[in-house]
Amino acid sequence: MLDLKRQYGPLHQELLEALDHVLQTQQFILGEPVAAFERAAAAQLGVAHAIGCSSGTDALWLALAAAGIGPGDAVVTTPFSFFASVSSILRAGATPVLADIDSTTFNLNPAAVEKVLEGPKSTGVKAILPVHLYGQPVDWAAFARLGKEHGIKLIEDAAQAWGAEWKGVKAGGLGEIAAFSFYPTKNLSAAGDAGMVTTHSDELAERVRALRQHGMRRRYHHDEVGWNARMDGFQGAILGVKLKYIEGWNDARRTVAERYESLFRAAGLAESGSCPTHGIVLPRVISGTRHVWHQYVIRSARRDALRDFLASRKIGSEIYYPVPLHMQAALKPLGYKEGDFPEAERAAREVLALPIFPELREDEQLTVVAAIAEFLS
Ligand SMILES: Cc1ncc(COP(=O)(O)O)c(C=O)c1O
Repeated sequence: MLDLKRQYGPLHQELLEALDHVLQTQQFILGEPVAAFERAAAAQLGVAHAIGCSSGTDALWLALAAAGIGPGDAVVTTPFSFFASVSSILRAGATPVLADIDSTTFNLNPAAVEKVLEGPKSTGVKAILPVHLYGQPVDWAAFARLGKEHGIKLIEDAAQAWGAEWKGVKAGGLGEIAAFSFYPTKNLSAAGDAGMVTTHSDELAERVRALRQHGMRRRYHHDEVGWNARMDGFQGAILGVKLKYIEGWNDARRTVAERYESLFRAAGLAESGSCPTHGIVLPRVISGTRHVWHQYVIRSARRDALRDFLASRKIGSEIYYPVPLHMQAALKPLGYKEGDFPEAERAAREVLALPIFPELREDEQLTVVAAIAEFLS
């Protein structure tokens, strides 16, 4: 599915030097290695502020808390994402309100969000939290319109989308504030847990910086209750090195995705529409977006059998996500039930992520495509 050792090989020496610098300077928490990464990250994304923190989950919580989301507020998001997209809203003390996804992109559907905003669940809605799932930005024009019309904030979950763009603007700079994850499997990855909050706003950035160290602006003077959500020096140093290569890695992922597309089409396996019957439905790039292919996700009507077949051939695959969030045991108190979000539920039954990473070779892709062809025949 993912061979991180192929990325480490060529970077070995450079990473060791960066880590040694942290050891020499003994700046283990925040400090210059993190600050240098933050400056370079902000410049690359075209945002005024990039604030390193301890994980993508903490980045989401920091973004929500800094944006003033708390008890009594509600935030609209997707039922088809990693758990943290919803749990961070609960951690902020607010109520998640869910809306179904788009069948083509798997992203939050703006039309479904609009229905929520015009219905009984609109009470207390202060923000929309769209997730750029699999590395493809959501339909930002539609969300920007909704934000404006309803006077609510837009907070991006850009955990899977470092480098992705909507009409030339990078994810992380689209909404008021955004959260990234550098979990080791992400396109831009740390050697452990790490995350980042980005924003154009000086005021929000200042609040995030305080919240990530217990609401402390002056040493041991706490203005509000924050949390320990700081980034480690080692992670900042590693991310600072990898940041120089991420654009090239994202381009390589695009090459892999395009090659899958042409191989599947040439083999006659690709079906049109979004409902697979005999073949597979390929992922689609929406015009105006720059997809960074965090995942390459196909749909299959016989997904579980296909996955077992690939496993028998020692081909990795993964299901992101097998259980939609409204059907998670921990989220039962939200009061949703099976059938509430049919597209999210169908996606959970049909999606299968195939191996994709910058160093994936053409012969390996041919093996994947041949195995799927054999299964479908
Ligand atoms: C969409 C999404 N949101 C949030 C997160 C949380 O990030 P982390 O695992 O770094 O806490 C992840 C990553 O796992 C994610 O994929």
